[in-house]
Amino acid sequence: MKVAHICFWFHVSLTASGLVNAFDPFTTTLVVGLGATLGRTIYKYFQENCDQKWIAYNTTGLKSDLDSKLFGQHIASRIILKAVNGFMSNNNPKKPLVLSLHGWTGTGKNFVSKLIAESVYVEGMHSRFVHVFTSTLHFPHAEQIATYKSQLQQWIRGNVTNCERSMFIFDEMDKMHPGLIDGIKPYLDYYEKLDGASYRKSIFVFLSNAGGDGIIETALDFWREGKQREEIELKDLEMALSLSVFNNNKSGFFRSTLIDKNLVDFFVPFLPLEYKHVVQCVLAEMKARKIPLNHDVADKVAQDLVYFPKSERVFSVKGCKTIESKLDFYI
Ligand SMILES: Nc1ncnc2c1ncn2[C@@H]1O[C@H](COP(=O)(O)OP(=O)(O)OP(=O)(O)O)[C@@H](O)[C@H]1O
Ligand SMILES: *[C@@H]1O[C@H](CO)[C@@H](O)[C@H](O)[C@H]1NC(C)=O
Ligand SMILES: *[C@@H]1O[C@H](CO)[C@@H](O)[C@H](O)[C@H]1NC(C)=O
Ligand SMILES: *[C@@H]1O[C@H](CO)[C@@H](O)[C@H](O)[C@H]1NC(C)=O
Ligand SMILES: [Mg+2]
Repeated sequence: MKVAHICFWFHVSLTASGLVNAFDPFTTTLVVGLGATLGRTIYKYFQENCDQKWIAYNTTGLKSDLDSKLFGQHIASRIILKAVNGFMSNNNPKKPLVLSLHGWTGTGKNFVSKLIAESVYVEGMHSRFVHVFTSTLHFPHAEQIATYKSQLQQWIRGNVTNCERSMFIFDEMDKMHPGLIDGIKPYLDYYEKLDGASYRKSIFVFLSNAGGDGIIETALDFWREGKQREEIELKDLEMALSLSVFNNNKSGFFRSTLIDKNLVDFFVPFLPLEYKHVVQCVLAEMKARKIPLNHDVADKVAQDLVYFPKSERVFSVKGCKTIESKLDFYI
């Protein structure tokens, strides 16, 4: 569109000033040719490309985002930073990076995938090389799974052929038909090349609520024993996570060879959020809207949310979800 504009004005100004008539045909051709070349160059310059200008991993950016914008997820934050740093600093990875994020609703899974995309791609989630698949949207009908499978394979192959540094986010894995995801197994494996394309530099992120119950139980146990949330370690959750995801017929990973063959590099648990994290989320939202920070209002918003278990009111039922829309009622 930009080029069209530039060329159009170029043309108009040439015609209007009578310049075109003043030149002989040869000069006119030359001028117009130069204009077209210039236009193409400008176009190429502004359009996102699969090169270092547009794909420039910013490790300090990711770290500071995880530290300052993600609340209450000390385990996820650490794993994500380590995983992405390790992967992006390796010029010759043996397989694509495969992350599976698990946890209760509204705890930051989509939010973190956005932070990752923003650290890798200048255009963030708007990048041409970031692809989001939502089960309920892209693969709604169980009986069409064979069609979906080949379509998904085609998309991934096409997109990676287009740019090795592609990122694929699979949202709502729980609602994905078990078996569909096995169709992408070859792409996640340790292959040098497959049909002429190398998938080793791509990033695959799966999001689901599967395993969330187990995470909540552990978090509640810690809370009831009076231990700090920060004392929860990955090992307290990881084993239960991958097993429950594998054995859960609603996880999208049910008996999946991806798990069988250890193709998922990291299972990342997201802890349920507490009152104080909700307050932080409200304050962050105020900051994003550039309105003055008001702690009383933040408290009020957080207090009006529902918490569980009913008697103790420890964890927010919807995490930090719906805060964006709720805030409107309080200001
Ligand atoms: N841990 C967190 N730190 C900061 N903000 C958060 C956190 N969790 C959620 N949020 C905020 O709440 C919004 C909704 O969270 P998000 O979409 O990431 O939830 P989710 O884990 O993907 O939930 P679901 O399982 O329902 O899809 C985010 O856009 C973000 O603004
Ligand atoms: C990387 O992120 C940091 C922190 O957000 C920012 O200050 C810096 O300008 C970024 N670097 C590049 C090259 O974008
Ligand atoms: C890339 O993936 C998108 C879906 O996100 C799909 O619509 C598109 O056709 C794919 N591109 C190629 C070249 O296959
Ligand atoms: C899924 O598993 C549960 C219990 O593990 C079982 O009750 C249910 O029937 C299963 N559903 C399907 C579709 O297999
Ligand atoms: Mg989500």
